[in-house]
Amino acid sequence: MLELNFLPFPTLETERLILRKVTMADSQDVLTLRGDIDAMRYIGKPISTTFDEARDLITRIQDGLENNTAIGWAISLKNNPQLIGTIGFHQIDKQHYRAEIGYMLLPQFWNKGLMSEAIQQVLDYGFNTMKLHSIQANIDPNNKVSAAILKKYNFVSEAYFKENFFFNGKFMDSEIFSLLNKR
Ligand SMILES: CC(C)(COP(=O)(O)OP(=O)(O)OC[C@H]1O[C@@H](n2cnc3c(N)ncnc32)[C@H](O)[C@@H]1OP(=O)(O)O)[C@@H](O)C(=O)NCCC(=O)NCCS
Repeated sequence: MLELNFLPFPTLETERLILRKVTMADSQDVLTLRGDIDAMRYIGKPISTTFDEARDLITRIQDGLENNTAIGWAISLKNNPQLIGTIGFHQIDKQHYRAEIGYMLLPQFWNKGLMSEAIQQVLDYGFNTMKLHSIQANIDPNNKVSAAILKKYNFVSEAYFKENFFFNGKFMDSEIFSLLNKR
C-alpha cells in the first residue's frame, strides 16, 4: 500500500513558477479563478461566486494535506506570490498506487507554456517522490488544450465514457488519459 506524507509541504520550483501551499490568504485569487467562466468551462463543477465557497475549497485542500489523502499546489510566478492557478493530485488510490491529476490557470496566463512547466514538475513529484505507479486525468473530450498537454507528456487515451457525467441538467461524455511510471 502506498504511504504518503505531505508534511512538511513540498514546495516545487520550475523555471518561471513556484508551486506552493494554498492558504486562506489566497481566498480572493481562488475566488477569481473558480469564478472565471472560461477557466471553469470544462471543470464540471459550479462556478464559485462567494468567498465562503473559496474558503471551503481551501479548507478541503488543507484537510487533504493533513490527512495525506490529496495534495494541491498554488501556482505563482516567481516574481509575484499571487495565486494564478492550481494543480494537484486528488482521488489518490493508495491501494493501487494511482492518482488523478487536476490543473487550472487564469486565462490571462494561458498559452505561455506555464501549465506544461507545472505539470512536468508535478509528474516528477508524483512518480519519484509519491511513488505512484500511474496517473490519470479525467477530461471533457471537448477540452482540446488539456488533451494536447497530456499527449505532450505521453499520456494515452485509456477510456471514453459516454454520458456518464450529469452536470447542469445534461449527461456529458468523459475521457480518461493515463500515464504509467516508466522512470
Ligand atoms: C488547460 C490549461 C491549464 C492549459 O494551460 P496553459 O498554460 O495555457 O498550457 P500550455 O501553454 O502549457 O500548453 C498549451 C498547449 O495546448 C496547445 N493548444 C492551445 N490551444 C489549442 C487548441 N485549441 N487545440 C489544441 N491544442 C491547443 C498549445 O499549442 C500548447 O501545446 P504546445 O506546448 O505543444 O505548443 C488552461 O487552458 C486552463 O486552465 N484551462 C481551464 C481549466 C482546464 O480546462 N483544466 C483542465 C481540466 S482537465
